[in-house]
Formats: sequence, C-alpha cells, structure tokens
Amino acid sequence: MRIKILSLLVAVALIACAGTNSEQDTIKVNSPSGNIAVEFNINTKGRPYYTVRFNNSVAIDTSYLGFEFEGSEPIKSGIKVLSAKITAHDESWEMPWGEQRVVANRYNELRILLKEEKDEERALFVVFKAYDDGIGFRYEFPEQDNWTEARIAEELTEFNLTEDYKTFWIPGDWDIYEHLYSTTKFSEIDAQSYIERTNLAQSYIPGNAVNTPVTMVGESGIHLSFHEAALIDYAGMTLQVDTDNLRLTSNLVGSENTSYKVFKKLPFETPWRTIQITDKASDLIASNLIVNLNEPNKIGDVSWFTPMKYTGVWWEMHLGKSSWDYGMEMINGKWVDTGKAHGKHGATTENVKSFIDFSAANNIGGVLVEGWNTGWERWIGFEDREGVFDFITPYPDYDLEEVTSYAAQKGVEIIMHHETSAATQTYEQQQDTAYALMNHYGMHAVKSGYVGKILPKGEYHHGQYMVNQYNNAAIKAATYEVAVNAHEPIKATGLRRTYPNIISREGLRGQEFNAWSGDGGNPPEHLPIVAFTRMLAGPIDFTPGVFNIKFNEYREDNQVNTTLAQQLALYVVIYSPVQMAADLVEHYEANPRALQFIKDVGVDWEQTMVLDGAVGDYVAIAREERETGNWFVGGITDENGRTMTLDFSFLDKEESYKATIYKDGPLAHWDDNPLDLKIETVEISSDSALDIVLASGGGFAISMQKI
Ligand code: NOJ
Ligand code: CA
Repeated sequence: MRIKILSLLVAVALIACAGTNSEQDTIKVNSPSGNIAVEFNINTKGRPYYTVRFNNSVAIDTSYLGFEFEGSEPIKSGIKVLSAKITAHDESWEMPWGEQRVVANRYNELRILLKEEKDEERALFVVFKAYDDGIGFRYEFPEQDNWTEARIAEELTEFNLTEDYKTFWIPGDWDIYEHLYSTTKFSEIDAQSYIERTNLAQSYIPGNAVNTPVTMVGESGIHLSFHEAALIDYAGMTLQVDTDNLRLTSNLVGSENTSYKVFKKLPFETPWRTIQITDKASDLIASNLIVNLNEPNKIGDVSWFTPMKYTGVWWEMHLGKSSWDYGMEMINGKWVDTGKAHGKHGATTENVKSFIDFSAANNIGGVLVEGWNTGWERWIGFEDREGVFDFITPYPDYDLEEVTSYAAQKGVEIIMHHETSAATQTYEQQQDTAYALMNHYGMHAVKSGYVGKILPKGEYHHGQYMVNQYNNAAIKAATYEVAVNAHEPIKATGLRRTYPNIISREGLRGQEFNAWSGDGGNPPEHLPIVAFTRMLAGPIDFTPGVFNIKFNEYREDNQVNTTLAQQLALYVVIYSPVQMAADLVEHYEANPRALQFIKDVGVDWEQTMVLDGAVGDYVAIAREERETGNWFVGGITDENGRTMTLDFSFLDKEESYKATIYKDGPLAHWDDNPLDLKIETVEISSDSALDIVLASGGGFAISMQKI
C-alpha cells in the first residue's frame, strides 16, 4: 500500500556546541529548495528561540519556546545546547484514498538536544522539519533518571509575526469549532465578541485566543496558516492573541478537573506545531505538510472501506419533516417520552428502503440512517445523559437485519450513526458490542456525534481527555473494520495518515446551520474561507448537494445561501472520501439534469490541482478520479460575482474530453435566483481555455470524460 521510493537519511552536519551561550552560534536549517529557513538559538539568559525566513525575509521573528509545569520549575531559561544534527529526507508514500495517490515528503530535519544548566538538569529535544511549504516543530522529552512524569500547566510556544496580517479566524473555543469566520487585521482579533453570538449546545471561549487552522495574508502576498499535526494524547492547542505585540502564544485546552492541562509520563513528544507558508493562496490547499508530519499507516490493510457518496435520513430531521425520536410528545409544556409512536419518526424500514433505491439508481454507495436507535427522547438538554443512548437496540419500526440485507442486494452500504451526546462513559462501554454489531451487518462506516457538554463534567471537547476518547474510538473501530466520521470532533491533525479509518469529520459550521440557525445560516463567504482554513486540517463532512435551496415549505426563515451551481461545485472543492448528497429524494427527482453531476462525480482522486483562489473570495480546484482518469472541476465564489478564466493545461496532452458544464445562469444570484442553472456540453483538451461567469454566491462544476 505505501511505497517508499526513496528514504535518504544524510547527516549533513553535526554541530557540537556544548556550553555555548553566546548568540553567535545560530543553528540553521533550510528547506530542500531553500525558500524557507529556520534559525535556532539561545539568548544570553539561556532562553531558546527560533525565527523563520521565507524568501529571505523574516516571516516569524524571535519566538521563544518553553513549558510551565505543575509541581516543578518551568523550562524556559538557563538552557544550553548539547548537540544539533541535520538530516535530509526525501521519500513518498501512498494514500489509500485521498486528494491524491502519491504524496511527496521532502524536508530537512534539525534535531537539537537541550539541557538545563542548573541543578535539575532536565533534557529535551526540539525538532524542526523544514519543508518548501512550511515548517513543523515539536518537543521530545527523552527518558531520564530524575524526571518521570510531567504535569504541563502551559506550553509557551510563541509565533511572533512581522506584519499586522489580514487574518481569517474563529475563536479559541475549547468545546466547538462551529463558528463563522471573522476577517480582521490581526491587531483587531476579538474572540470574546463571539460569546454573545453563539447559541450552541456547548461553547467555552476563555480569552482572546483563536482556534487553528488560522490563516493570514500579508501585503507582499505571503500566506501563512498556523495549526498542529499528530495530536495524540495531548490537549488541543489554541493560540493566545497579543494584538499589541502581534504575537501568538500556545494556549492549551484545559480541564476543570485538574490544575494542569496535560499529564504525560516520560518519554513523550508533543504534537507538531505547524506553519504553512506559501506565496499564493492555492498553494496552501495543495500543501501536504499536515499529513506528512504524521506517522505512516499503523492499521494495515484498509481495503474493507471504499470511498463513497451517500444519501441519508438526515436533512429531513434538520428541516423538521421527520424526527430522530420515535415517541416524544409535548405535554403541558414538557417533552415526555410516551413510548408510543407519534408518526413522525424518520428512520423507518420503509423510508430507509426508499433512500436505498434512490442511491442504487444514482451511483451513490451509501445511506446514512440517524435516529435508528433508542435514546433520542432524552438526547439534548438533559444533564443525566449517561446510560441514555443505546447503540445496539433499534426502535420498533426499524428492522436492521432487513434494511442491511436489502441494501446489500442493491449494492449499497448502510452508514451507522452513533450520537454519543458527549456521554463518554456510556459510549466507551458499548463500543465493542456496537462495532461488532456493525461488522456483523457489513457496515464499515460510522458517523459519530458529540453534541452537548462533555460528561464527565468539567472536561472539554478539545482537552487531553477527549483527544484520547476520539483517537481511541477510531483505533478500536479499526479492529472491527469500521471507519469513523466524527461530528463535534477534535480537529483534524493529519492522523488519517496513521489511521486511514479516520475518514472525515465535521469540526466547522456545516450545511445543517442553513436549515435552522437563527442568524441566517452560513453566508456566501463561508466556504471560500473554509477552503483555506478548516480544509487545510483534513477532510470535511460538510454535506453538500441541497437542491431545494429555499425550502419554504419547511422553514420560511432559513435557506441555503448559495446558488444551485455552487452546491454541485462543492463535490469537487471540498475533499472528503464520504460525500453526502444531503437533500431529500423528492428534491433530487425533481431535477434530474442537475442530479446527473452528483451521479457522475468521483470521490477518490489520483491527483488534485488547485487552479486559482483568494482566501475568503473564491477558489477553483480540479481533481482527477482514480481508475477512470476522468477530471472534475469545481469553483465557488463569495457574495461577489466574478469571471474565472480556466486553463486546462493540466490535462493529458494526448486526450480530449467531453465536458459537461454546470454553471450559474445569467440571472442567477444566491438569494434572488439560486436555481438558475445552465448546463452545456463542450469538447475540451489541454490547450482549451474557458471563461466562466459565477454569480453572487455562485459556482460551477465540470465533469470531463475521456472521449
Ligand atoms: C449534530 C451533527 O452535526 C448532525 O449532523 C446530526 O444530525 C446531529 N448532531 C444529531 O446527531
Ligand atoms: Ca454539528
């Protein structure tokens, strides 16, 4: 599965500088092509720091490193360098499914051994990896006689900026990433302004910090995005914002149950702290830095999972057409579990069969079924959520055996749903039986959910406790040949390289907000920001493909804030190996010409070309489908209409393609006329050029088949 074409470990330099404390002995590592340089040194007080240059200009200025601990002295000054070693690496590996098949992993590594000069003499490594598209660095704490456990009160990693960048950010919420992005100057970031705006089942925004990925654009055209890679058994990192000094400092997610934020036994290493640095927006999306900083596949053969499009008993609940629960009634102003059917339950055998039939007829591989199991009567708003959800027992009107065998006959797979309601102990207890049940019925993907405040109380979604919950669930699921798509998740940090069964996740304001949010849903600029922020972290289960954009028959005050053409474009723009066709069967059947695109579009890619883009404004991406060699192109814009000129020089010179173009019609507009869609067929080859007009909140999608 993975091929290592070349693994070159060359000791380029070994700089022995034990005992030196002058600022003259800067240790430097360049990226392979030399556009990025990291410099490391210790100041006169023994404080370690680094700087980063991009194209010979300082991109990250003197930034100090360190830790505070509970029960022991901080590590931040009085430190000396014992050794430093640079090695060059050039290899490639294969994604079992992904944005591309072969990933180049080329970097130079600088490994520095540090030691305290004073009595305690604790040691640690700082390791930098310099790539041509950014850097990653982490701390490694080796085994040592006088130090066996660390209670990390705070990590003191700084990122000092050299410009008051235009910044695309969400607040450093410890519980949820489902916020709209703000676009402000760095000096104007105000995370606290979100507190009044959120109306979520869980949210905790402690100070002026941002969540990652946070993306910035400079006057010269430099693009930076800050994030982390390989978040394992550690707390998620938010970034504290110092608007006066243009500085970010790590601020780990904590817990109300401990006075420290992370507990580790030595030896251990932290996640990688990452900075993607490019000179154009499109290269941020093309960057593989985050996955490259993760370990290779540890779970072996994953051929039991196949990327797929899926439909589901889902949007209808968000629209209020049906319910998750089977028998809840409002009696005297209170929700009461009557145990009797109220007749609105969505996950019935019959309804699911209609989705199976539709999927089978339209080249869609999966059907998600939410609300199939008991517990939904008490899933939200209740404090005592432990013991409520049952991941084995279906409601009386849902026959799991019948549904899964009917699906199998039709070549469709049922996608399991586990809404844990953030009651972690209940979920943990049932995981083995629940995953074994899935395996028994031939179900290989589960959508999990963590709505609500975490139980046990005092824990946050993004703290060390929950990081372990999410990771352990996925690792266990793999042993039952189950792939995981978590909602209300911990952020993606490239772990899909190590555990490919972590297929996708939410972790942003998804399509569902358009169905019910009181603030008008996701504005047209949302996804042109998401493509350059959240999407840099990894696959997104956004659930595109809503055709009935206004759905006035269900909710008059809500709508999707894009054109229909943009809904199609999202199948290409947003990457996920599970891609939902979210709308109701009847809405697809009413528009077979647009549905043809969903039917044709791929979900697994040989290669990806990011054609053009500007953060927050627009983006166009082309992807070549594995096996067929067909190409698909998607482009989206914010509230500003624009013309995009497409250059097809990425196509195979020898081939010509029949291209079906789905674009905004002349009167299209996300609000006034979202359904104006024009479909045309042309022949395209590598020397073709095409001007496409995108409406306000619009987009286009092209499917190209070899002639
Ligand atoms: C929130 C998820 O994002 C959504 O997709 C799901 O339908 C509900 N929770 C219920 O689990
Ligand atoms: Ca959600």
